[in-house]
Amino acid sequence: MHASFVRRVGIVHPLIQAPMAGATTPALAAAVSEAGGLGSLGAGYLEPEAILAQAADTRALTRRPFGVNLFVLPDDFEPDMAAVARARARLDALMEREGIEARTQLPARWAPRFSDQLAALREARPAVASFAFGLLSPAQLRELQALGIVVVGTATTAAETRAWAELGADAVCVQGAEAGGHRGTFLHAPDEAMVGLFALLPLALRAAAECAPDMPVIAAGGIMDGRAMLAAEVLGAAASQLGTAFLGCPESAAAAAWKRDLPAAEDHRVTTIRSFSGRAARGLRNRYVEAMEGAMAELPGYPALNALTAPLRRAAAQAGRGDLLSEWCGQAAALVRDLPAAELVAVLMDEYGAAARALE
Ligand SMILES: Cc1cc2nc3c(=O)[nH]c(=O)nc-3n(C[C@H](O)[C@H](O)[C@H](O)COP(=O)(O)O)c2cc1C
Repeated sequence: MHASFVRRVGIVHPLIQAPMAGATTPALAAAVSEAGGLGSLGAGYLEPEAILAQAADTRALTRRPFGVNLFVLPDDFEPDMAAVARARARLDALMEREGIEARTQLPARWAPRFSDQLAALREARPAVASFAFGLLSPAQLRELQALGIVVVGTATTAAETRAWAELGADAVCVQGAEAGGHRGTFLHAPDEAMVGLFALLPLALRAAAECAPDMPVIAAGGIMDGRAMLAAEVLGAAASQLGTAFLGCPESAAAAAWKRDLPAAEDHRVTTIRSFSGRAARGLRNRYVEAMEGAMAELPGYPALNALTAPLRRAAAQAGRGDLLSEWCGQAAALVRDLPAAELVAVLMDEYGAAARALE
């Protein structure tokens, strides 16, 4: 129906496995790409050498197109050190109380430098580069496009869609409020940018039509099966981007406790959480989230809090403590299936075909 993105990128199905920083692997991305979708690496937390290594590992497994995703952030951060000290005291006390051996540390750097990551991405030269949390500069966009890389921006509102369309992005992925993981929001307060996908898709398409009528719009948020992919396409999406649906695959790097908790995730317990990273993200409300409730005002923002909670999250994953782990997921997480990625792609496309035939 809307073949523009699929044709341009050279994939078979209108299906993108979402880049998920910390959860995607070369094995996952390659399996999806081999099966005809677009596999993606979430590289937002990776240093440049690791970006190059993951891209090379993916290429060793598939010759098909895949994507790499980064967070658009300033190169350097100067967190409020008083807030950092308060967070360390609180987190260390929590780990002690919970019997977790780890303690917080001051990292050498709060996050990888974006300009270095971007240079590695250009060198890795994936078919698709996607971005969240901000807008590229016109020069950064041009450099990527000059290399033949298809650039996809993330938008959570019509205004953010317009911003990427005016910049000249090749496509925009609209992230509905249902979506798992961090909000990509960059023009608004995250609370004010919680637009559901059914409302956002037509609004984003109208906004894009004003300056870039042919720009494909990709749908993300709460899509767990082929019927929902078709529904997004009926609303005008050129493809669907599924994150949570792929977390249950054996190729995903999600911790065992996280994978175990997803099928039992009740929709009303899947909420917006700031206390793991300092940035709004959707995931399972658990013991940690409840313990930190009301503390956000005294804690530092992203990426400082994200770096400070890393030892806890690592230790909790190793100890099988899902109740202390950032269990990111979309609102429909309970529909997750623990199938190998290639099988999941086949099942999704069977469902998509069956839903299309049922409408004939
Ligand atoms: C565990 C997890 C990590 C994510 N990390 C990223 C990321 O690094 N970059 C990005 O653009 N989106 C990220 N997302 C959001 C996805 O791109 C997408 O918007 C979302 O998964 C769609 O909702 P769904 O999870 O209900 O399918 C992440 C989502 C999840 C569940």
